[in-house]
Amino acid sequence: MNTLEAIAARRSIRKFQDTPIEAEKLQAILLAGIQAPSGKNKQPWRFIIVKEDKRAEMVDVMRQGIAKIKAQGENTGSSEWSAQVMEQAPVTVFVFNPEGLSPWHEHSVDQMIWDVVDIQSIGAAIQNMLLAAQDLDLGSLWICDVFYAYEELCQWLGEKGEMIAAVSFGYPAESPAARPRKPSNEVVKVI
Ligand SMILES: Cc1cc2nc3c(=O)[nH]c(=O)nc-3n(C[C@H](O)[C@H](O)[C@H](O)COP(=O)(O)O)c2cc1C
Repeated sequence: MNTLEAIAARRSIRKFQDTPIEAEKLQAILLAGIQAPSGKNKQPWRFIIVKEDKRAEMVDVMRQGIAKIKAQGENTGSSEWSAQVMEQAPVTVFVFNPEGLSPWHEHSVDQMIWDVVDIQSIGAAIQNMLLAAQDLDLGSLWICDVFYAYEELCQWLGEKGEMIAAVSFGYPAESPAARPRKPSNEVVKVI
């Protein structure tokens, strides 16, 4: 599959088969992430892998965080739905910026600038992983709903630094149509 084909064929997948992911395929996905460009080549990422044996515990922790926010009367968005997806996916990879601060922490100007740069680098790594998964016939879902259980998940994962996102991977059990995109004349300006 060439790059443009992979970009066009990729979809967010929210239903996965039980079939485990082969170790070589998971390695190839992580390598694709590691090969992403990064600001000053800092490679500001750490990938924490949760497989089937720890998945129920992970989702339990996520649900505890969601319940806490709900109890405060706050909106919890699509987080319960995302937890259900993570419950099915054979692998979920959490991506951390080891030097990043929690989004609720006060940032100096320098920290704020580096945080913005590092988040872009991590975004590139995540997209590389999604495209690698596509090439390997695997589905993926990029998940920021993990922020509804930020403290709980960071503590459970035992990671310092800033959690940026989670990505679930597995063999797809659905083949959704392409979701709509804004037309280019709405988002592109030539001057
Ligand atoms: C930064 C980011 C965060 C996302 N977080 C979630 C999420 O928490 N739960 C979810 O179901 N989808 C999540 N998505 C997937 C988007 O909903 C999806 O990419 C978008 O609807 C377009 O669909 P497509 O990926 O199939 O093209 C996220 C995507 C991105 C890029």
